Amino acid sequence: MKKLFVTIFISLSFLLKSFADEGMWLPLLLGQQVYNDMVKRGLKLSKEQLYSINKTSIKDAIVIFGGGCTGEIVSNKGLIFTNHHCGYDAIANASTVEHNYLRDGFYAKNNGEEIPTEGVSVQFLLSIQDVTSQVLDSLKGMTGSERAQRQARVLNNLNAQHSDASQNIEARISSLFKGNQFLVFVYQRYNDVRLVGTPPESIGKFGGDTDNWEWPRHTGDFSVFRVYTGKDGKTANFSLDNIPMVPKWFLPVSIKGFKDGDYAMIYGYPGGTNRYETSFGVKQKIDIDNPTLVKLRDMRLKHMFEQMKNNDSVKLQLASSYAGIANYWKFFDGETKQLIKYDVFSQKKKSEEGFISWTKGKPEYEPIFSEWEKAYEAWRPFSKHRMYINEGLFGSPLSAFAAGLQQVEVALVQSGKTQADVKKAMEAVGKAREEFLKNENQASDQKILGDVTRMFYQDVDQTQHPIDFYRTLSEKFGSLTDEQTFKKYAAYIFDNTMIFNEAKWNAFVANPDANTLQNDPAFAHATAFLINYQSKYAAKSAQFNSKNNELGRLYLKGILEIDPVKAKKMYPDATFTMRVSFGNVKSYRPRDGVFYDYVCTMDGVLQKYKKGDYEFDLPDNLLELAKKKDFGQYIDKQKNDLVISFITTNDITGGNSGSPVLDANGNLIGLAFDGNYEALSHKIAFDKDLNRTICVDVRYVLWCIDKLGGASNLINELKLVK
Ligand code: ARG
Repeated sequence: MKKLFVTIFISLSFLLKSFADEGMWLPLLLGQQVYNDMVKRGLKLSKEQLYSINKTSIKDAIVIFGGGCTGEIVSNKGLIFTNHHCGYDAIANASTVEHNYLRDGFYAKNNGEEIPTEGVSVQFLLSIQDVTSQVLDSLKGMTGSERAQRQARVLNNLNAQHSDASQNIEARISSLFKGNQFLVFVYQRYNDVRLVGTPPESIGKFGGDTDNWEWPRHTGDFSVFRVYTGKDGKTANFSLDNIPMVPKWFLPVSIKGFKDGDYAMIYGYPGGTNRYETSFGVKQKIDIDNPTLVKLRDMRLKHMFEQMKNNDSVKLQLASSYAGIANYWKFFDGETKQLIKYDVFSQKKKSEEGFISWTKGKPEYEPIFSEWEKAYEAWRPFSKHRMYINEGLFGSPLSAFAAGLQQVEVALVQSGKTQADVKKAMEAVGKAREEFLKNENQASDQKILGDVTRMFYQDVDQTQHPIDFYRTLSEKFGSLTDEQTFKKYAAYIFDNTMIFNEAKWNAFVANPDANTLQNDPAFAHATAFLINYQSKYAAKSAQFNSKNNELGRLYLKGILEIDPVKAKKMYPDATFTMRVSFGNVKSYRPRDGVFYDYVCTMDGVLQKYKKGDYEFDLPDNLLELAKKKDFGQYIDKQKNDLVISFITTNDITGGNSGSPVLDANGNLIGLAFDGNYEALSHKIAFDKDLNRTICVDVRYVLWCIDKLGGASNLINELKLVK
């Protein structure tokens, strides 16, 4: 009995404990929750300097960059630093085969040379407000889908109340602790963002996918942008009359250097974590979801790379999409390996047992885990199928576009729809088609479509196949055990669809009819899979998600109740809202007998260099200056070398890319750009010994801009701390 009590006690405190460096803290609660710990670790700033609603503070220099990254303002003229991989799409879009900035790099020598971007915006956080009681009061007594629907409506209304479209002010309520806390984050968006500088890809993505998610690392993962405002200083769409923004705050840049153990703090927008994922969820990920995604991405990447590797224009066309697919291909593969290695399943089981004992006699909580188990059991047989839809069917750009033509079919065949509806749908798909064709590489896509069709046949439970689909396919194209059959099938689709044929497409646009659409082989292909899924499995998926959300909310509600004092010190999972994490620059031992230093230097860049290699080539001017050790004021005196990158113990995740790494005084020392391989399970379980954030040293950034790029104009804009 006593022993049981001890285990329960240990597991419960495990549930609530937050380790030294773990935590993505809400800026508005920093003062209450962790400020004292931050000071103990070395912080030299006041609470007000970190975050204040009345005065300007560091938070005013931090932006959401584009759709999923972080950036920081580094001058009083709106200059922004972010990662190269965050600017990647904009850089590729600004490039042509003749002016290939992705390959060769680019630095504007004056404002006039800066390149407008299409669709890149930045958002500043204006305020954060707690609306938990307002939201929860309106949901009292509700559960399941009724609650979810009501919640969506309540949040929409509150968002509308706090937004003002005329000033580009946008509110987005974030549901924290799985629906137990609600905060309104209000942002101001700026749409005129211009490309100011980028290193060549051989620096900005040095090491490529081989080195991605790994330390030691020698990547110069930075790019430079500028945000513009109207002449009145207010948010404005692009115009040549606009002026560089005068920001509320900007970060000084320290070139003083640092040592192993020094304080480090990161502000930014971590996208998502699930630290309270259940053992069921871990198992599902390891057994089904991750391996399926990895297998499909493996295949897609292989076909894309084949077309990109020797063709500059295809490379520019596919580069950004390839990078995104590859990034999370390696992530999910690594995540599975680390979840298994650390036996996260058993860790979860253990803490869940503690929770379950606590729920005894509490009717609201007692059934949670048995219901959860049932929900997973019911969903498990279909989860691979869903992955095949998301990563397979939609992994072929043609299939994904063709699936979107469903809206035209609906407008054509559904009763009550008018000519005007058809026209509207046709306009929408017309625009989408232009976008699709711009990015489409038929050679790789055709191979992907063929392989997805074959792999679906082999991998997904036969009883879930679209009825008659494979029988018809084999009648027309041959044996289903022969790879050629699927190649022929894909070739047939690509040769005959109207989507690639201007004359046929224009005829359809002039006179859209359901018959032509339904007989189009690309449309028929996409909808065979999609309708099968939508009609039989989508509801099961929705049911599972709704149950999973509901139980997650209750689980977290329970956890917050177990020890209310400790609950006040908890941080919520990442939700792409502003967070601060603190820790130290720190070396580590990844495995027995191996020591990883806290920095990488230019010496290591030269060691990895492989002339002409796709991932490890280097520009001539870098080689020349590096061999002469011409590092100017950016040299690290301790190492007598240029420091390229460093690692810290900070708790971050995807979305934090581009985030400023600050020293104890709030000066910029680097940009976070990656996590290490040993901690790829970090979305689900933070490892206090092995977790590291990989950062590019700002001194390397400045050396590239100054010495390689000759853009002293940009260096002169900064406030250097020497
Ligand atoms: N793993 C990095 C992140 O998700 C992105 C690195 C981009 N570099 C690359 N080789 N794909 O933040």
